[in-house]
Amino acid sequence: MLIRMLVNGEWREADVWPGSSLLFVLREELGLPGSKNACEQGECGSCSAWLDGELVCTCLVLAAQAHGREVRTVESLSGEDRLHPVQEAFLEAGAVQCGFCTPGLVVAVTDLLDHDPAPDELTVREALSGNLCRCTGYEKVFDAVRLAARRKQEGSW
Ligand code: FES
Ligand code: FES
Repeated sequence: MLIRMLVNGEWREADVWPGSSLLFVLREELGLPGSKNACEQGECGSCSAWLDGELVCTCLVLAAQAHGREVRTVESLSGEDRLHPVQEAFLEAGAVQCGFCTPGLVVAVTDLLDHDPAPDELTVREALSGNLCRCTGYEKVFDAVRLAARRKQEGSW
């Protein structure tokens, strides 16, 4: 079946098997490998992206469900020569090791701070509870969230 979706500001088409996940189509058909494929069961958050502005696990969404809708992936966050402030905060805080979980975490943190620029600790932990990281132990990730949140409250992004 042919589907059409607005992906990172550009209308894209793909001829997909009706059972294809949105994650598969983004990665394999549309050349957007930023959303990672780890569990394919909605458990790890590495495939997180926005569908009509709502945070979703793209492994749990059929590509056909995204027909006619807006998808934003982690690739939409950085410019050609600049990182998104949340990405910068991850780098500065040392919150990236193997990096496999990082795109999903960056999307989840961006979503959190867009809705709540000054989240308390419990809110941060709750918001990121669906994102698994096997490397960092999470403390550096929380440091990155605090850094990005502070800069957002200061108005630097
Ligand atoms: S790959 Fe989608 S939640 Fe793990
Ligand atoms: S940095 Fe390796 S899984 Fe998170």
